[in-house]
Amino acid sequence: MQKNTVVAMPGDGIGNIVLPEAIRVLDAVGFRPEYVHADIGWEFWVNEGNPLPDKTIELLKKHKLGLFGAITSKPKNKAAEEIRPELRDKGYVYFSPIVGMRQKFNLDVCIRPCRSFPGNPLNFIRQTADGGFEEPKVDAVIFRQNTEGLYCGLEWTDPPPAVRDAFSGHPKYKPFADVAGEDMAVSVRMFTRRACRRIMEAAFGYAKKHGYPSVTVCEKPNVLRETSGMLEEEARHVHEDYPDIELWSTNIDAQMMWLTKNPEDYGVVVAGNLFGDIISDAFAGLVGGLGFACSGNIGDEVAVFEPTHGSAPKYAELDPPIVNPIAMILSAAMLLDHVGESEKATRVRDAVAAVVKEGKVRPYDMMKIPGGPDAISKGAASTIQTTDAIIAKLAG
Ligand code: NAI
Ligand code: MG
Repeated sequence: MQKNTVVAMPGDGIGNIVLPEAIRVLDAVGFRPEYVHADIGWEFWVNEGNPLPDKTIELLKKHKLGLFGAITSKPKNKAAEEIRPELRDKGYVYFSPIVGMRQKFNLDVCIRPCRSFPGNPLNFIRQTADGGFEEPKVDAVIFRQNTEGLYCGLEWTDPPPAVRDAFSGHPKYKPFADVAGEDMAVSVRMFTRRACRRIMEAAFGYAKKHGYPSVTVCEKPNVLRETSGMLEEEARHVHEDYPDIELWSTNIDAQMMWLTKNPEDYGVVVAGNLFGDIISDAFAGLVGGLGFACSGNIGDEVAVFEPTHGSAPKYAELDPPIVNPIAMILSAAMLLDHVGESEKATRVRDAVAAVVKEGKVRPYDMMKIPGGPDAISKGAASTIQTTDAIIAKLAG
């Protein structure tokens, strides 16, 4: 079998802490690809005016498989202030390198599994009618369209005349017609039929393969008739090939309420880019939050796996590091699935499950104590101790 090469992109802040931990776990489970390091993140914006250097793009193009930690990104003005003085006013404009990577390689299918591990004190619990508590089993897998929608990047403050002209033909534009350019901001929610079809095919294919009884499209078709409407139309179309799976439709706002009332009812959930971002964080909150939230960004050729958390700068310099490596480790398990190493992926998830269930080794978030330099002295496991415990379970 040809040896895989994985492009390792730790990025900023705690990305540099958690990514090496995931590699240790991959190594322990017997997956030993070549790793090539690639640069990404704030430092490369500041020093080169490009947070996603061309060399990184070339490496991904070549090796097609990436593990990514996290990046720091800052608002437009802050980005312009922090760029190296020599690069100032040279036309560099900050963009999110993750969004850039997703669009560059058309990583249009984002998968975010949110499964509760029994014994996790961060799991969602619900009060019962008799005053007791119950812990519903959450096993939702969010499919988020990753390249279009409100994150497609088509936006303006002071839209150019051609854009305003195009709007002026629309009856709903009337109240905006006299708004001054600098007082008007526009972000376009663009959906294409092709991308809607692809995310629905991916979602139904996953549901069938993994035995989920339903696929829920979570949008807002009663208001966003065109865009949400197109996704729903494609859902119905793809559903024809999967008669054994139920197709449900919910509105994003109502879904945000229902997911804390009856999260166990949902299996595969599909949404556009923004709603998918929101609903996946919401489900992640039920199963342990950012320390547990893993994801894969999958295109036809390239796939990149990453925890959904960011660079958590306030914890990046702590020694020993305290952040939870599990989100990154579960992302690495998704990489294993992607390359056909499902048995190893299952072993990694089982090892995580065993550590969580045993409850002896818990990073600060699972202890429900504030993160900070004294978290360890209060009994929290360090990042490294947490990984060590997972590796020990792999061996045992
Ligand atoms: P964040 O996800 O970095 O951290 C928020 C809080 O969540 C942290 O302060 C910490 O309390 C907790 N947390 C995050 N990861 C954790 C882990 N592995 N274990 C335990 N606790 C964890 O989000 P924040 O603070 O809003 O953003 C910080 C930077 O990260 C910003 O520059 C933001 O733009 C960027 N960001 C990058 C993302 C990415 O690279 N995919 C995603 C989200 C934010
Ligand atoms: Mg998010």
